[in-house]
Amino acid sequence: MKGIILAGGKGTRLYPITKGISKHLLPLYNKPMIYYPLSILMLSKIKEILIISNYEYIKNYKRIFKDGSQLGLKIKYAVQEEAKGIAEAFILGEQFIENKNVCLVLGDNIIYGHGLIDLLNNAKKNVKKNNSVIFGYNVNNPQEYGIVEFDKNGKVISIEEKPKNPKSNYAVVGLYFYPNDVIKKAYNVKPSARGELEITSINEMYLKENRLKVELLGRGYAWFDTGTHDSLLDASNFIRTIEKRTGLKVACIEEIAYNNKWIDRNQLQKLAKKFEKTEYGKYLMEIAGD
Ligand code: DAU
Repeated sequence: MKGIILAGGKGTRLYPITKGISKHLLPLYNKPMIYYPLSILMLSKIKEILIISNYEYIKNYKRIFKDGSQLGLKIKYAVQEEAKGIAEAFILGEQFIENKNVCLVLGDNIIYGHGLIDLLNNAKKNVKKNNSVIFGYNVNNPQEYGIVEFDKNGKVISIEEKPKNPKSNYAVVGLYFYPNDVIKKAYNVKPSARGELEITSINEMYLKENRLKVELLGRGYAWFDTGTHDSLLDASNFIRTIEKRTGLKVACIEEIAYNNKWIDRNQLQKLAKKFEKTEYGKYLMEIAGD
């Protein structure tokens, strides 16, 4: 399975912070925001990853991740000229995806919770059975998201993008697992009233074909999208609180690469050396047994 991180757009809702920098490179407590969605793909054991962003920011991502080999990854890059919609990721990523299944994660989504790896594994299994898998999370501002409606037996009956009158409080999280035919479906999406190729249109297509599974992230999970000044700070504070209390780091991509056995101890030590003046580097050193 291949992975895509969508990290484009102008981040206008975060102006003036994002006037000169890609939103997904902003600090989320102690690391760039994009580490969090990248860690989700790595926890899903996905090694081949495409980062999509605006032309002017690609060099910044390349500076951080290069070709990904230092983490045991293969990272490629693609440009999205304009924010034409999330579903465009599969058109821009067509060559990269080839004939594989694909997981898309939005560059501004942060997911944290016990049991996440099992959930990701199950999603991959379901995709092998030719289904798509998305995730629902209870929110108090459903007008701002894609919203899933269930019947009383828990069967999905509709999905709507930013409904004025939401039929439930279950928002669709920015993490999507699809079979390879998502590429074909992306080409069939018509621009919405706001002029975007909506990911919700793709999910509706799978729903019509009875091939859409919605997994709920229960109360034990934290999900943040960092679209506003407040949600950015909330997410940072949350990560800081968890990391301070547990002594463990969230979305530490070097640690995940090591645990996945994609890099060995020597490679981890080499990475840790680069950050040795920081608490982050000391944490890596400790993991590497120094
Ligand atoms: O966060 C989950 C929500 O994400 C879902 O519930 C919605 O169904 C989905 O449409 C999306 O809604 P948003 O309005 O939050 O999407 P936004 O335009 O903020 O974009 C989400 C991320 O994707 C953001 O980091 C920017 C990036 N993006 C977005 C678009 C439309 C791109 O890189 N290119 C794009 O064309």
